[in-house]
Amino acid sequence: MTKNTTQTKPLNVLVMAAGLGTRMKSKRAKVLHELAGRPLIAHVVRTAQTLDPKTILVIVGHQAEEVEQAVLAEIGELASFAIQAKQRGTGNAVESARRQLEDSGSLVLLLSGDVPMIRAETLRKLIDHHRETDAACTILGVRLENPTGYGRIIRDEQGRFEKIVEQKDASEEERQVREINSGIYCFESNDLFEALKRVEPKNQQGEYYLTDVAEILNSSKRTVEVFTHTDPREVSGVNTRAELAEFENLMRRNAIRRLMIESGVTFIDPSHAYISPEAEIGRDTIIYPDVTIEGKTIIGENCVIRSGARISNSKLGDNVTVKDHCLIMDSEIGSNCSVGPFAHLRMNATLEEKATVGNFVEVKKSRLKRGTKAMHLTYLGDATIGERTNIGAGTVTCNYDGVRKHETIIEDDVKIGSDTMLVAPVRVGSRSVTGAGSVVTKDVPPDSLVAGVPAEVKKKLR
Ligand code: UD1
Ligand code: MG
Repeated sequence: MTKNTTQTKPLNVLVMAAGLGTRMKSKRAKVLHELAGRPLIAHVVRTAQTLDPKTILVIVGHQAEEVEQAVLAEIGELASFAIQAKQRGTGNAVESARRQLEDSGSLVLLLSGDVPMIRAETLRKLIDHHRETDAACTILGVRLENPTGYGRIIRDEQGRFEKIVEQKDASEEERQVREINSGIYCFESNDLFEALKRVEPKNQQGEYYLTDVAEILNSSKRTVEVFTHTDPREVSGVNTRAELAEFENLMRRNAIRRLMIESGVTFIDPSHAYISPEAEIGRDTIIYPDVTIEGKTIIGENCVIRSGARISNSKLGDNVTVKDHCLIMDSEIGSNCSVGPFAHLRMNATLEEKATVGNFVEVKKSRLKRGTKAMHLTYLGDATIGERTNIGAGTVTCNYDGVRKHETIIEDDVKIGSDTMLVAPVRVGSRSVTGAGSVVTKDVPPDSLVAGVPAEVKKKLR
């Protein structure tokens, strides 16, 4: 029989996310505030997921349901939850996971829901150190220029770990210590829950401190290790909106730098572009100032994205021009297309290759096939439009009858005259033409000219 040693023990991740985050001055729980378009907690659990743990157990309290939703949306069934009804300190938070983890015989990696920049690589090193030293507890520590607010790591004369002292409980001498507890740890599950029984709320804040577990283990001659990390930014938590904005800035700058250096994207002004870390952009694409690219957007090579554009969860091919002030949401644009200025594409709008959507055109849940153009002042909703068709200025698909949405189908090589109202459901056959100001209420056969209100066939064109 193999012994269940530290080396072979399964990994469980425990994430503390029950607090309100008073310093955010918000009605929303801190971990739900967004960084780079995703809740803080989503960043943490996604990183944890890459460590391939058995489970990721999240301790929830404030706005538990919303926090659970955010976690499930990110990692699905890998997540499980424990409720901490009252927030009586980090020790009490971990206590709420006793039922799920006490007898798990696992290695517990403890993370905070408000430390979003932590990298998997750092956590892997922490875990390796913990396994190698056969410790009962390994603390991820870091040295800070300004340690104010953090728990200090106190060592004895030989430099061995002794205890962690919180800012509020620290003596003047202890406050001078720059080595701090990041709030990220590895524990042996048995040791953790044994020691936790002995934690008492005898401190300035009257809270159950998880940090006391380290001292308890140490004084019962169990090995407590400090693994020192060098990048303070990675382990620092978000406590205020000012810090949140700093993190946002940092992530944005990193994303832009990566795109410039690794992908060959030109930014005219990198300090005035807002790019999701998940975005992919091809080489020689040029991004002008004040462009926002959100979510999992993919942009091809040689595109030009002009100022004021916002592109969210969309896919653009190569050689696409997006002119100034366009809003493109959940849509797909083929290669060699041009969009804008002032265009709005949404809900799965699809432009096939060489299609053009111009000034003040809105396209919703519609497909414009190859080479089709809608240049001015138009609404196309729930429509399928064939190849090489021209949609005149001011055209509207009247897709809503007050109760239901209806489809418009326009076939290939059609010319829709200016100010045509297409009252859906309706179909316009190939090569047909509608006169300016027509109100099309019934299907138009192929090769016909229709005009008038309501539109009638005036002549056959072939
Ligand atoms: C904690 C550590 C401190 C460390 C710091 C690092 C303790 C006693 N102190 O202090 O040594 O330097 O983190 O950032 O642990 N939470 C709950 N339930 C609670 C209390 C907190 O779920 O009852 C969660 C919070 O939502 C947060 C995390 O635990 O995600 C940390 O709590 P916080 O109150 O920020 O601890 P600190 O005072 O910062
Ligand atoms: Mg904190």
